[in-house]
Amino acid sequence: MRRTIDWVDGAVVVIDQTALPGEYRLLTLRTVGELVDAVKRLAVRGAPALGAAGALGVALAAQRGGGDVRQDAELIAHARPTAVNLAWGVERALRKLDQGPDAVLAEALDLLAEDERLNETASRYAAEVVLGATSRRPLRLLSHCNAGRLATVGWGSALGVVWHLHGRGLVEEVLVDETRPLLQGARLTAWELAEADVPYRVQPDGAAAAAMARGLVDCVLVGADRIAANGDVANKIGTYGLAIAAKHHGVPFVVVAPSSTVDSRLPDGTGITIEERDARELTHYAGVPVTPPDAGVFNPAFDVTPHDLITAVVTEHGVFGGAGRSRDRRPSP
Ligand code: MRU
Repeated sequence: MRRTIDWVDGAVVVIDQTALPGEYRLLTLRTVGELVDAVKRLAVRGAPALGAAGALGVALAAQRGGGDVRQDAELIAHARPTAVNLAWGVERALRKLDQGPDAVLAEALDLLAEDERLNETASRYAAEVVLGATSRRPLRLLSHCNAGRLATVGWGSALGVVWHLHGRGLVEEVLVDETRPLLQGARLTAWELAEADVPYRVQPDGAAAAAMARGLVDCVLVGADRIAANGDVANKIGTYGLAIAAKHHGVPFVVVAPSSTVDSRLPDGTGITIEERDARELTHYAGVPVTPPDAGVFNPAFDVTPHDLITAVVTEHGVFGGAGRSRDRRPSP
């Protein structure tokens, strides 16, 4: 299985996530401008994959030579504001700049290999947390956005838990939030689950609380874009509402991420910058207007879930935070 993002023949090659599931195609990014554009358009997306894009972008700038690499690095780091991994990847590669372009590239490639390894480990630990927090077998899991291999260099974080549990015959189905407005759940998570032969159903985001009320969800699994020191978690818009619904229904709510997503400079989630995206994402659907022409729009791409709504935040080091809720209080159907 190829990596979501990699270095091939002097360029950055990504799986174009704007084209899936209709078309599986690769994008070759030869300049920093092309890379920044791909990040802004979500052709490459998901916090860990953005960390890789940050590091490879600096490698690209350093290999090309000529321009000001530090200025390019600034552009890349600010292409999207919420996932801390992007700036983290940039900074990590930049630290090698004094040693020359090959050292920068080697550092970026190390980061890529590490990402695959760490997500596999974090999700293996998280699978144990999920099993400890639930009693029904096989499990019915709920996923929001895409935290699979497409959101990382490989393997995935929250969806990585599904791969581990499915491999042990422990998954009955995954309910996939479609994830309005860009449909990362319906387009990408569903595509990954289908590829892996995991039973799933796509649902509108608004159905998640009703699914919990009906006893159809044993555990909610999500990734993260930035985790504050106290365990507050920024993730795709709608995650906060899901966590409130999960708490109300006694459903464990587990966050899985590599430790590169932890921003220990932030004491809590109030300092996290939330990306506001283009109004057209809401005023149009597949290019067709769906609102009156002058409709006002509120389109935050992320929200912050307070740590006391979270059962556990799991990284490659084990349980990082969360309220430690571990009881499965729902009646068995
Ligand atoms: O806007 P996106 O698609 O980049 O948002 C991605 C998410 O919110 C993911 O849940 C998060 O980055 C974790 S991915 C392992």
